Amino acid sequence: MTATEDVATGLPAATFAEAMSRLVSGLAVITTRQAGGAPCGLLVSSICSYSVAPPSVLVVIDHASRCRESLARCAEFGVHVLGGTQERAARTFASRGADKFADVAWTWDGVVPRLYAAPIYLRCATSAVFDHGDHTVLIGEVGRVEVEDAEPLVCYRRLFDWGLRRGR
Ligand SMILES: Cc1cc2nc3c(=O)[nH]c(=O)nc-3n(C[C@H](O)[C@H](O)[C@H](O)COP(=O)(O)O)c2cc1C
Repeated sequence: MTATEDVATGLPAATFAEAMSRLVSGLAVITTRQAGGAPCGLLVSSICSYSVAPPSVLVVIDHASRCRESLARCAEFGVHVLGGTQERAARTFASRGADKFADVAWTWDGVVPRLYAAPIYLRCATSAVFDHGDHTVLIGEVGRVEVEDAEPLVCYRRLFDWGLRRGR
């Protein structure tokens, strides 16, 4: 791609999105409990390790997400880093389906919906929340970690079937 844009003259969102789609990322489902008691969750690529002391992660949630308010207010949330066989779950949680939890195996871990199939699970206590632009930044202190060996689900250029072994 050769397209360039001058930030000073206003950067088109599509140009920015295209550039960032070329950043290889893992994918995670973020879950919490809504005020009414039902689980909610969405797929994110905007997640990273934030600090080691205390062990923390940073997640970025679009203001358009129906989970945003619950996540911004919750005391705890779950991070489920998806494995290479979980493309279906990724699509489910990237959707705006009425009940995303209907076809996935899950349980409550305290107030956090825990998806069984995810190879990496972090239970996080919310330690900071702030808005920037059209997104909300959520920082969570990790209180529980469960890890199983699995190939990761990898996203690149809006495709999420880029297993690390595919080599294309
Ligand atoms: C590959 C991929 C990565 C995404 N990353 C994020 C993200 O980092 N943050 C976010 O808020 N939404 C992200 N989304 C969009 C949400 O998953 C999507 O808008 C979802 O429908 C929101 O669900 P909700 O409205 O039930 O909360 C991503 C979607 C895809 C397909």
